[in-house]
Amino acid sequence: MKKVNKTVAVLLSVLMTFSFVGCSGLGDVETKFNEALDAVESWVDGLLGNESEEEPPEEEEEEPEEKEIGKYLQTKATSAGRVTLDKESDCPADFVLEVSGDEPIKILQLTDTQMIDETQVRKGNGAVSTRYADHDNCIYDIVRQTVEATDPDLILITGDYVYGDYDDNGSLFREQTDFFDSLGIYWAPIYGNHDNDSDSEYAVWIDEDYPDWYARKQCQYFEQAEYCLFRTRAQISGYSNFSIAIEQGGEIVRSIVMFDTHGSLQTTQEITPAQMSWYKDTVKAINDYAGKTVKQFIGIHVPMHVFKVALQEKYGELGYNDSPTNFTIPENADGDCGALINQGMSGHDKDLSQFNVFKEKGADAILAGHIHKVNTIVLYQGVRLVMGTKSSRYDKYNEEQLGGTIFTVTGEEYTVEHYYYTEATAE
Ligand SMILES: [Fe+2]
Repeated sequence: MKKVNKTVAVLLSVLMTFSFVGCSGLGDVETKFNEALDAVESWVDGLLGNESEEEPPEEEEEEPEEKEIGKYLQTKATSAGRVTLDKESDCPADFVLEVSGDEPIKILQLTDTQMIDETQVRKGNGAVSTRYADHDNCIYDIVRQTVEATDPDLILITGDYVYGDYDDNGSLFREQTDFFDSLGIYWAPIYGNHDNDSDSEYAVWIDEDYPDWYARKQCQYFEQAEYCLFRTRAQISGYSNFSIAIEQGGEIVRSIVMFDTHGSLQTTQEITPAQMSWYKDTVKAINDYAGKTVKQFIGIHVPMHVFKVALQEKYGELGYNDSPTNFTIPENADGDCGALINQGMSGHDKDLSQFNVFKEKGADAILAGHIHKVNTIVLYQGVRLVMGTKSSRYDKYNEEQLGGTIFTVTGEEYTVEHYYYTEATAE
């Protein structure tokens, strides 16, 4: 109906226009006619309430939000691209990494980054130094330099990734995960005793007003990250238990089994029988696939008792005990090295039964964290026991020993050494 009314009105307006417009030529006539027609049509539209036929202005496309990770977003390791994740492999490990070429494979252990947000202080907890608010200085500078200097094919993080008591809203967890993923290197984190302190199961126990960030979301955030190798399993205890196989030249050359040694608020810090059963099945399946016993690295957070036993047997009174004397292991034929700085812990697996299983099944190194001031590496019964160099400043007395621990794997053999961060000097 509106359309009919509009047409009639326009015709009338044309007749009216000719009656009062003065013309000086045919061109003028046409122009004046069109202008008048537009004006009248617009006026009639207004009267009749017709919608404008003009195209709506195009909405400007929003720029995608860039992830803010300070200056680190641009950093790509030179090794990026040498390693691919083989998702089609029949190898029964959770993740199969294929390393191209025949150069030695470099695996970097980082540990205990333990990020802290001093503004997120849980009820009952003491405040922490505002010094830790500077994440570049406390963590990222150290990690970046260590990664650039060692140029790893794979990064293993042996727990205490964040200090859960000071990250109830998960902001540090997300920030650090984005940072590691921006390096473009595959990386595999496990939890330490501090990471899952934001677990919802315990949240109510701690604080009824607890924010909604907890272990399940931490796991999900790891799992969605492009380069993060992480898997949680419902059937065994702990959140971070998974395996990695490394393939080079068409062969499985090494496997890595990562264990959750449990959080402060869960159970005793240990490896459970269910985890050991899973380990045996996993190793057997990988070995069957490879047609040989594949050498393994074991990744844990809390060291096992064998670390103490080994140090005491080899270094006597200087060794790893409940109050060790400060000392650095002199270099010797076994390649032992590292420092003990007044901190000890007796560790789990007191009867060494789990250590013996690892040894029998082909493990030739156990990589641990947790003891911030200690980074000893000791060869014991053919298995190298490695306490990784701490990768952040929190709770580290000797800041000349920050960085990581780098393994260089050639065939079935490997070497290991610490990399120490050196602070950049002003130009
Ligand atoms: Fe720890």
